[in-house]
Amino acid sequence: MKRFSKEIIAWYLINKRDLPWRNTNDAYLIWLSEIILQQTRVDQGMAYYLKFASNFPTVKHLAKAHSDKVMKLWQGLGYYSRARNLHETSQIIASVYKGKFPDVYEDILSLKGIGEYTAAAIASFAFNKPHAVVDGNVYRVLSRVFGIETPIDSSMGKKEFYQLANELIDKKNPGLFNQAIMELGAIQCKPINPDCSLCPLNAMCVAFAKKRITELPVKEKKTKVRNRFLYYIVVNYKGKTIINKRIGNDIWKNLYDFPLIETAKELSETEFFGSEQWQQFIGETSYTITSVSSIHKHILSHQKIFARFVEINCKSSFSKLVSDTAIIINNKDIQKYAVPRLVDIYLEKRIKEK
Ligand code: ADE
Repeated sequence: MKRFSKEIIAWYLINKRDLPWRNTNDAYLIWLSEIILQQTRVDQGMAYYLKFASNFPTVKHLAKAHSDKVMKLWQGLGYYSRARNLHETSQIIASVYKGKFPDVYEDILSLKGIGEYTAAAIASFAFNKPHAVVDGNVYRVLSRVFGIETPIDSSMGKKEFYQLANELIDKKNPGLFNQAIMELGAIQCKPINPDCSLCPLNAMCVAFAKKRITELPVKEKKTKVRNRFLYYIVVNYKGKTIINKRIGNDIWKNLYDFPLIETAKELSETEFFGSEQWQQFIGETSYTITSVSSIHKHILSHQKIFARFVEINCKSSFSKLVSDTAIIINNKDIQKYAVPRLVDIYLEKRIKEK
């Protein structure tokens, strides 16, 4: 289908957004942008990309960085294993590949944190190799234009869409083709209320002809969401507080937060201070309650977090409250640590109120 690729490339050259990672063929910068863009939309991702690219202009700079700095720059993007993989992989490229990004698809794919989509993006954008990218945008464009009803989250669907994308790709301009189809999905063939009258593919679009735009693409599974109730204990003793490094196999690994009590359900204030967990945490330490925040709701892909921040003033030393993974810091130094976005929002609000 030459026409498909001709139409989208012509459309792209006129309508594309001017994005910094499109003005380079540096594989490292392209990789960086793709990892950030898996986590967030282009408008928010831009600031993160520019920050990373200026702090770490080459893969060697990133490889040499301290992991705390990498995590701090990533703060707010969520899914922190992506940042850890980014850092680890930069070290592999610096050592095994002597700082030169591999240009063979299979070598790129073998790197930690790089899946089929990202490997194809790097291979095509940086090295102009004919590997089709298939992300959410591409699934949407292809399912609609070709009227494909196979669920995109089934193994059969994945195969079918990959095969089609690789048949359609412009072998002479694979990078341009991939950018074009993704951009079309992002700004024209939108999930909700696309303006099909402006689309370069409307004459050949099966879903448009059959009025099935809202039904495509088809998804098989609905993601299950788990509710979690977190009570953060913000301790104050003589201008100092306790923070905790999250080292377990859970969300926000390697970030810092406050000592935490997690419960199976939402508790009232009386229930909370009467709970076994609270008693275990506070022991004999004498304290007054300074405030209990309203619920901070935070939605992740598979979890809904309901958090309250319980502020207490200790009247005697809080040394007994400090666990193995916790450290004591000056209250104002919390800004130096990478914290989950949820905690950051609470801290910002607290500063405004004081
Ligand atoms: N989303 C993922 N990759 C992208 C890219 N290269 N340009 C714009 N949006 C994207």
